[in-house]
Amino acid sequence: MIAVTGASGKLGNWVIQELLKRTEAKNIVALVRDPQKTQNLQALGVQVRQADYEQYNTLVDALNGVEKLLLISSNEIGKRATQHQAVINAAVAAKVQHLAYTSVLNADSSTLGLSEEHRVTEKAILASGLKYTFLRNGWYLENHTENLASALQHGVILGAAGEGRFSSASRQDYATAAAIVLTQAGHENKIYELAGNQSFTLQDLAKELSHQSQKKIVYQDMSEAEYEKALIGFGLPQALAHLLADSDTGAKNGQLESRSTDLNKLIGRESTTLRSAIQSAIKE
Ligand SMILES: NC(=O)c1ccc[n+]([C@@H]2O[C@H](COP(=O)([O-])OP(=O)(O)OC[C@H]3O[C@@H](n4cnc5c(N)ncnc54)[C@H](OP(=O)(O)O)[C@@H]3O)[C@@H](O)[C@H]2O)c1
Repeated sequence: MIAVTGASGKLGNWVIQELLKRTEAKNIVALVRDPQKTQNLQALGVQVRQADYEQYNTLVDALNGVEKLLLISSNEIGKRATQHQAVINAAVAAKVQHLAYTSVLNADSSTLGLSEEHRVTEKAILASGLKYTFLRNGWYLENHTENLASALQHGVILGAAGEGRFSSASRQDYATAAAIVLTQAGHENKIYELAGNQSFTLQDLAKELSHQSQKKIVYQDMSEAEYEKALIGFGLPQALAHLLADSDTGAKNGQLESRSTDLNKLIGRESTTLRSAIQSAIKE
């Protein structure tokens, strides 16, 4: 059986959809903190089991009979290393054979603030002795397209990434790669740097949005501190605003750009383009 943590989340949902294209529903276990959130998956015949990173016993019970596990990194920044360690311990206790983990692009050299918890988790997985696959995901295209309504309303995209390039791909692209790793042999003890085929700057994003919407949208580059302040002003918690502004500085320094073709090779096609991500986002 193949289990996926964070299955109630956006990436997790895509992974389950991609697994369903490659294996029968009865082979898939969706691990969720709150099973009420995933009635859609139960209706598809996927087993839903309760598993909370903060409650070790639920993890061990939920992993009963599981051979392959995808640990989707938690969204509880600051708690992630401890939560992931609990999942790794439970995987060892439940005799899981192969653990795949959604990490961050170039985890071992990345200077992004958010990469530290991923580095700690990768080390813990290596120390566990489990067979592993590190799916080092780049930025989601959706990070750029989820808030386009505000850009369209105000005519401006804010950021602190300067001329930095993003080799972003869609959640569905990364989910397809994960589903392939979980359903094919030969991915044990491998590290994949997963990034989109295209890279673009935030000026390119503004230009493409202007073109598609027929409205003038500009990119306004700010200092990291100014951008963090602006994000807090939009209602983001301080810690998250700090990490996002820090990530833009990372992008400015080339940390979110990659020439790796690992994603391309795994999924057997080009990754989603910025153009089509914007088309889908503004249609919604
Ligand atoms: N590469 C990127 O650009 C990028 C961007 C954003 C995030 N990320 C990372 O990628 C992960 C997946 O992205 P996403 O968009 O799918 O995030 P998401 O929609 O926020 O999903 C996060 C998942 O983690 C689960 N979770 C949180 N705390 C938990 C706990 N204590 N026990 C069990 N499950 C718990 C959530 O469960 P509930 O539904 O119960 O809350 C949810 O299913 C994120 O968590 C984050 O680490 C990457």
